Amino acid sequence: MPVLEVNNLSKIYVGKVSHKALDNVRFSVEKGQFAGIMGPSGSGKTTLLNVIATIDEPTSGDVLINGKNPHLLNATDTALFRRHELGFVFQHFNLLDALTVEENIVLPLTLDGVPVKEMDKKLHDVAAKLGIENILTKRTYEISGGQMQRTAIARAIIHKPSLILADEPTGNLDSKASNDVMQTLAAIKEQEAATVLMVTHDAVAASYCDRVLFIKDGKFYNEIYRGDSRQAFFQKIIDMLSLLGGNRHDLSTVRL
Ligand SMILES: Nc1ncnc2c1ncn2[C@@H]1O[C@H](COP(=O)(O)OP(=O)(O)O)[C@@H](O)[C@H]1O
Ligand SMILES: [Mg+2]
Repeated sequence: MPVLEVNNLSKIYVGKVSHKALDNVRFSVEKGQFAGIMGPSGSGKTTLLNVIATIDEPTSGDVLINGKNPHLLNATDTALFRRHELGFVFQHFNLLDALTVEENIVLPLTLDGVPVKEMDKKLHDVAAKLGIENILTKRTYEISGGQMQRTAIARAIIHKPSLILADEPTGNLDSKASNDVMQTLAAIKEQEAATVLMVTHDAVAASYCDRVLFIKDGKFYNEIYRGDSRQAFFQKIIDMLSLLGGNRHDLSTVRL
């Protein structure tokens, strides 16, 4: 069974002018796969991620995570589902400034009342994986952007979620920090067979994926799989983006 199944998903934002942000999208992601989503600005990428994350409701179609539809749960169970089954990584890191790095990372466990000893072990395991053991007692304003994103990734994976959802995780990082973060995400995916769905504008970041799906005007457009070479995959992504069109500066920021 795939970790994620998206079946004929549509989302219409109703307003003065209604807008079909997602139009009959379907795909699935197998366990251990690192899937990317690309498309011009306004093509529905964030909407897709929000509907998968149960932050937003679909107009029609459904989302199954490990075969279960989280949109059928009540509010309390939806909150628990999100906390247990999903891990989130955002462009703006979304760390709490009032807390230290380590307090931010263990937050999902604190909310679940996990015993301190177990929490401590998990914290040190995940901090070692992300190479942030030496900054655990620092505040978020004392660390770099790359370290903030590593902290956010640590928080997203500490509870070993079924699915990690990332929306432009490298959007606020310079090219070096961006490559570091992508290498780390790819390594974690390898070590833990974690399943990741990442939205990105950045062709270099996308080249770390196993597979990239392209959407345009809310519709599935095409998908490509990575072979052995990340360099060759990068070139295929660039070619697909130019076919896709859209705003030039939306496409990739080239940083190899
Ligand atoms: N809450 C909303 N209400 C109305 N329209 C929205 C809302 N959120 C997004 N949209 C519209 O839906 C389309 C897709 O948006 P979005 O998913 O944010 O695209 P992307 O992340 O690919 O840039 C855009 O045209 C956007 O203006
Ligand atoms: Mg977006």
